[in-house]
Amino acid sequence: MCGIVGYVGPNKAVPFIMEGLAKLEYRGYDSAGVAVLENGSIEIRKTEGRLKKLADILEHETLGATTGIGHTRWATHGRPSNRNAHPHSDCTGNFALVHNGIIENFTSIKEGLLERGHKFTSETDTEVVVHLIEEFYKGDLVRAVQDTVAEVRGSYALVVVSCLHPDMIVCARKDSPLVIGLGEGENYVASDIPAVLRHTRRTYVLEDGEMAVLRSGGVDVMTTTGRPVSKNVFNVTWDPVQAERGGYPHFMLTEIHEQPRAIRDTLRGRISEDRTRVVLDEVHLTRDELAGLRGLAITACGTAYHAGMVTKYLIERLARIPVEIDVASEFRYKDPLVGPDWPLVVISQSGETADTLASLREGKRRGAHVIGITNVVGSSVAREASDVVYTWAGPEIAVASTKAYVTQLVVGSLLAIWIAQAKGTISQDLAHELISELNELPEKAQRVLEMEDEVKAVAKFVAEWDDAFFIGRGLDFMLCLEGQLKLKEISYIHAEGYPAGELKHGTLALITEGVPVIALATQLDLLDKTISNITEVKARGGHVTGVTMENGRELEKHLDHILCLPRTHQYLAPVLAVIPLQLLSYYAAIERGADVDKPRNLAKSVTVE
Ligand code: M6R
Repeated sequence: MCGIVGYVGPNKAVPFIMEGLAKLEYRGYDSAGVAVLENGSIEIRKTEGRLKKLADILEHETLGATTGIGHTRWATHGRPSNRNAHPHSDCTGNFALVHNGIIENFTSIKEGLLERGHKFTSETDTEVVVHLIEEFYKGDLVRAVQDTVAEVRGSYALVVVSCLHPDMIVCARKDSPLVIGLGEGENYVASDIPAVLRHTRRTYVLEDGEMAVLRSGGVDVMTTTGRPVSKNVFNVTWDPVQAERGGYPHFMLTEIHEQPRAIRDTLRGRISEDRTRVVLDEVHLTRDELAGLRGLAITACGTAYHAGMVTKYLIERLARIPVEIDVASEFRYKDPLVGPDWPLVVISQSGETADTLASLREGKRRGAHVIGITNVVGSSVAREASDVVYTWAGPEIAVASTKAYVTQLVVGSLLAIWIAQAKGTISQDLAHELISELNELPEKAQRVLEMEDEVKAVAKFVAEWDDAFFIGRGLDFMLCLEGQLKLKEISYIHAEGYPAGELKHGTLALITEGVPVIALATQLDLLDKTISNITEVKARGGHVTGVTMENGRELEKHLDHILCLPRTHQYLAPVLAVIPLQLLSYYAAIERGADVDKPRNLAKSVTVE
């Protein structure tokens, strides 16, 4: 996720761009840059670090340009650095471009471009795009962009300027957002509405496969194959604060709603083109090493630890090897069982959690191959692990982790299938089924989000209580742990997550008349067992809300409330089932008037032991 802004009109472009980028810093903040058309050439200023650093550089400049583009980056390919910051330029310096998204086939395109003599100055996937524009350009910039996007695979919001076309901006979109702001004698483009809101409320929202040509006098919209498109103006009615969160009142809710996109991005490029194999090129364990694996260890903290538990379960089920798991604050002191023949997986959204990092270092000290799963390029985990598998959730601003967790589950599932395929412990049928279900998760997650009002009703009830229970079996139990953590973290309601079969060994005493119990029942092979446990709870007066899949509806008669998810393979159900739990916590916290995005006593990144 990155933030993009462009301006064309009669006024100075830089102040508009910088103001717009400031509104988009939530989309990325590891580096920033601008490109403006100044006296017949393109001037680029960019730097690693936050926008303030770029502002300090620009303060000493007198750039009078009236056309320009800007970018605030969240690194994907290439760590945060001056070189990797956008905008990027071609060999001639005639074109500059900013990009949000991931170009999946950049390696093969780059090889071709290098053979044809192009010189690269960054490690980014983006740079290939501007060199392609240079190659395709025959006097028509729009055509060159169209020819370029026909070559690239992946997701993109692209915004291009050229000193050969000083009064124009060309942009194109696929799977990454772009809005056009319509001004008076000037026009704007941005990744999100807040960047333009102080200047206009009249916008076009570009759809996938559309592009636009902006001039001060007007905007032409067409498909990337050149067919004109007539757009309806979208009049923004949100207040500016709400607009900064994509129309949602809190970052947490924005991030919950971003999950379909985050899942899609995390899957991108990690499934073979024929959709039969998982491809995790970033992990440098040979087929032989994988085939000979005797075991693995996983460590992480908090929500990331819960994602680790799901990963452990899946690796054990699919790859048939034992997986040790510990919270990182325990792992580092327990003389852990890792070494040259026992790799370690560390999971950390921020990549900076002190206990997780110490465990990573302990693993390396013992000679283990360490696979880091993190959301932040250039973070300590990314730099110090032997290999990194990134979750492409984009920056997570709310303290409570939501979209990072979901993408950790996706990476965990990919890792389990990948190891199992290498070891030959998974049948082709099951592998194909899981891969095809993985591909459907973004759309199904979108459908789960449509259940928001149903969940809100449950949250209203839960919010009246000081205690709640989450019960489930198998993977559902692991999800219970995440459900109870989320509820405690932001609503301050005390909650417990229990293996459903364990209640009767003590805790059942706490189930009294009306106590809210969330029963997760997505593991359909265990449905009968879970139903028995629900019956035990009902017999003590517990108020039970069940979360199951469409094919688990027989549960309904045992419940006070049912939340039915789209059907998926039960191994992947946690990715969908966590969404109602996140919404439940969010709305319970709202009911209780809690500060959702900044819960008490909790920091986003815990860099102390
Ligand atoms: O950045 P990390 O994933 O390493 O953070 C680990 C935990 O501190 C984090 O998941 C914490 O539990 C969150 N507050 C969860 O919402």
